[in-house]
Amino acid sequence: MTPELIVRNATLPDGRKGQDIAIAAGKIAEIRPAIAAKGVIEIDAKGHLVSPPFVDVHFHMDATLSLGMPRLNQSGTLLEGIGLWGELKPLLAVEAVVERALRYCDLAVSKGLLAIRSHVDVCDDKLTGVEALLEVKKQVAPYIDLQLVAFPQDGLYRSPSAEKNLIRALDMGVDVVGGIPHFERTMSDGAASVRALCEIAEERGLLVDMHCDETDDPLSRHIEALAYETQRVGLQGRVAGSHLTSMHSMDNYYVSKLLPLMAEAGVHAIANPLINIMLQGRHDTYPKRRGMTRVPEMRQHGVNVAFGQDCCMDPWYSLGQADMLEVASMGLHVGQLAAREAMGFCFDAVTTNPAKIMQLEGYGLEPGRNGDLVILQAKDAIEAIRLKATRLYVIRRGKVIAETPALETKLSLAGRPALVNGADYAPVEAG
Ligand code: FE2
Repeated sequence: MTPELIVRNATLPDGRKGQDIAIAAGKIAEIRPAIAAKGVIEIDAKGHLVSPPFVDVHFHMDATLSLGMPRLNQSGTLLEGIGLWGELKPLLAVEAVVERALRYCDLAVSKGLLAIRSHVDVCDDKLTGVEALLEVKKQVAPYIDLQLVAFPQDGLYRSPSAEKNLIRALDMGVDVVGGIPHFERTMSDGAASVRALCEIAEERGLLVDMHCDETDDPLSRHIEALAYETQRVGLQGRVAGSHLTSMHSMDNYYVSKLLPLMAEAGVHAIANPLINIMLQGRHDTYPKRRGMTRVPEMRQHGVNVAFGQDCCMDPWYSLGQADMLEVASMGLHVGQLAAREAMGFCFDAVTTNPAKIMQLEGYGLEPGRNGDLVILQAKDAIEAIRLKATRLYVIRRGKVIAETPALETKLSLAGRPALVNGADYAPVEAG
């Protein structure tokens, strides 16, 4: 079969150079140097990094691009954000949510972000967000894998109809069971919600992803219950704890017990570095806590860790641009992940690691997998993070769906080169 596309002279995230990637019938047919066949379309990657698409495993697409509606978050805190979202919810209309989400998805495609797990608030009896995002999921399916989480934002038990609405949302086709145990009225209600939600997921054969312990309170320990319930109902490998910021403030001895329990239960961890550094530590004077969960330590214990974006121009966060390299860069800095191996992990944390959490079928740069690629204006994964590299080509199932010209600046300095771009700079010794 003639490949519909061959990308020549690629550098892969694992460091292999000079690779050709042939895509036939929407799948990767071959990856090796100097493929003899001729593709219908040929792209010269010029030694640039070719990666599988970016994956954002923690996002809120029902709220995205709503910045300023109905007003701005003055304190910038999580709680004012939740209050503000509560003011906006009754004003939402399905068409408007669909429109905003589709605009965001266009931006995501331009950044090579082709798989998104979005939480969708189910604490609204009309289930406006659910209806809208199910429609968006259908519309973007040819180019984005959108997975939806039924998220009881105001508390499964604290909000009067959340439990009933969560079940309705799952019946309508929402994919994943969400939760927010630290926001319930009491610790015991939080633990009960974790138990009930894991049972629902087990009965329905679904994945779980809870906002878990998104607080600076070191005694918020719902992750312990989540790991326990995961094992009790047999959901190993199918459960993710999002945020886990309380772990930043926990006692070291307790964490030394907790991490092996998470690893044993195969619970995945999702940190949201941009949002964590912005929202946590707000009751501190100085020194102020960073709030991001213990990423290096979880890695050491074999816990699969991913970075999510969480928010983009919404009641909680007024910046963002669907750029998972920005997320990786912030995670790298906040987690002090400075070793080259650790920087490489930060790239995995926005590609392969979240793909594992979403259980994306056919993801990855291997023959037989989906013909989905991003060609970046960078020599390797670390440089991609350093430069938030331009996505030269975004390819889905063998077709180019977005192109951005290489970034280059014309210099007007006597005796200096005429053109400059960050990708011309390399470390003296990459070892
Ligand atoms: Fe979130």
